[in-house]
Amino acid sequence: MKTFREDFLWGGATAANQFEGAWDADGKGPSVSDMCTSGSYTNPKRITPVFEEGVLYPSHEAIDFYHHYEEDIALFAEMGFKTFRLSIAWTRIFPTGTETEPNEAGLAFYDRVFDACRKRNIEPLVTISHYEMPYGLVEKYNGWADRACIDAYVRYCETIFARYQDKVKYWLTFNEINMGTLPMGSVLSLGTVKGYSGPLMGAPDNPQERFQALHHQFVASAKAVRLAHEKYPQFKMGNMSLFATMYPYTCNPDDVVETQRQMQMTNWFCSDIQVRGAYPYYAQRYFEENGIEVRMEPGDEAILREGTVDFYTFSYYMSNCVAKNPAAEETSGNGLGGLKNPYLEASDWGWQIDPKGLRYTLNEIYARYGIPVMVVENGLGARDEKAEDGSVNDDYRIEYLKKHIEQMREAAADGVDLMGYTPWGCIDLVSASTGEMAKRYGFIYVDKYDDGTGTLERSRKKSFYWYQKVIRTNGADLENE
Ligand code: BG6
Repeated sequence: MKTFREDFLWGGATAANQFEGAWDADGKGPSVSDMCTSGSYTNPKRITPVFEEGVLYPSHEAIDFYHHYEEDIALFAEMGFKTFRLSIAWTRIFPTGTETEPNEAGLAFYDRVFDACRKRNIEPLVTISHYEMPYGLVEKYNGWADRACIDAYVRYCETIFARYQDKVKYWLTFNEINMGTLPMGSVLSLGTVKGYSGPLMGAPDNPQERFQALHHQFVASAKAVRLAHEKYPQFKMGNMSLFATMYPYTCNPDDVVETQRQMQMTNWFCSDIQVRGAYPYYAQRYFEENGIEVRMEPGDEAILREGTVDFYTFSYYMSNCVAKNPAAEETSGNGLGGLKNPYLEASDWGWQIDPKGLRYTLNEIYARYGIPVMVVENGLGARDEKAEDGSVNDDYRIEYLKKHIEQMREAAADGVDLMGYTPWGCIDLVSASTGEMAKRYGFIYVDKYDDGTGTLERSRKKSFYWYQKVIRTNGADLENE
């Protein structure tokens, strides 16, 4: 029976805005995430067009990877990482997004980071844009609503491809691009919030604008992929989707059809375009029913066709249920909620834990596209307590990851071509949805708290040693002893 391939890419995942800090160092400009306040499960994180006095903006210091990268990468190497997923902060390279010349100090920082990885045989996996659109583009263009962002993004790609061509092979064009199919996506993903001040969930929704902005991202992504394929044949280009697996709440055909409909527009729509190179048939009806008309320029369809990705990546944290006439209790989730599944338990943040759903999802994706697949985010956000001796016994995290890895192994045995696994927040970092530190995912504990205090000291959790063993045995030994 098949198991994980020999060259399986074990590692961990992060994003610049959630862990680098140094938000205005060495010429960096503000991104959408830098304009976001801290929050919590009950007190929503907000975006503000100007910084408010006395308010904490957690990305500004985060866990200060900018000044700790050597130490952090050494810890990843100690765990045995084969790959490390990180994003480049666009605003380190082009501070407002509109410059024609890049910022050398920003480029030099990632040279140092990639060199530190390579020295330890860690393959960087780079997300080009992970909720880090320059705020300058929001102010000038209302974000991706304007087609001008395509050129700004392509210029950024040309710069980083040329600079890092010998250091980076794996690239993802946009993090969770399908966030733009949801109203919440207008803040962090699409940046269509010029002048808006308020919670992420509360931004005025304009589906016409949202899908037009998404179209600009599809064209930008395809242009980046096409450029890479033409000029850098050694590159492997991937998409990145948020996968919110959905089950019909009952076997009532109404629920089944409704689930299929929601699966299409939430989970499949973006990757159908990025992998297959054209808008899918079902989008037409959705657009008609929702008054959406996507304006394309001549040549756009050819670009989409020519810019299809080499591998499929996704984040997987939870699943939910769907009913035509919801009469069941609602649940929370990554970017979107749904109905509670009576067979599943949930995290403290209400995300339903569903390891078998990962096997199911991997099979669905591979059956649909037939290209290599990678799980580039997965994990348990939890409140960790430090014991008197400084240790963190995070058995709950080990349990969560173990069950998911077991199901990935099943999927590999089913025949899915699974390339790798980078659990989210391999080192504690700022939460994207709530802006808090208290929601920790890491194998490495960082002494940093919601009020902004902390020494930033790093320490190994119990899961650190467990994951080290998992990698050493290529996933054969998952026991927690
Ligand atoms: C994904 C994002 O949606 O989920 C990450 O790509 C994010 O940026 C992760 O941090 C976990 O979500 P959260 O809200 O718990 O940080």
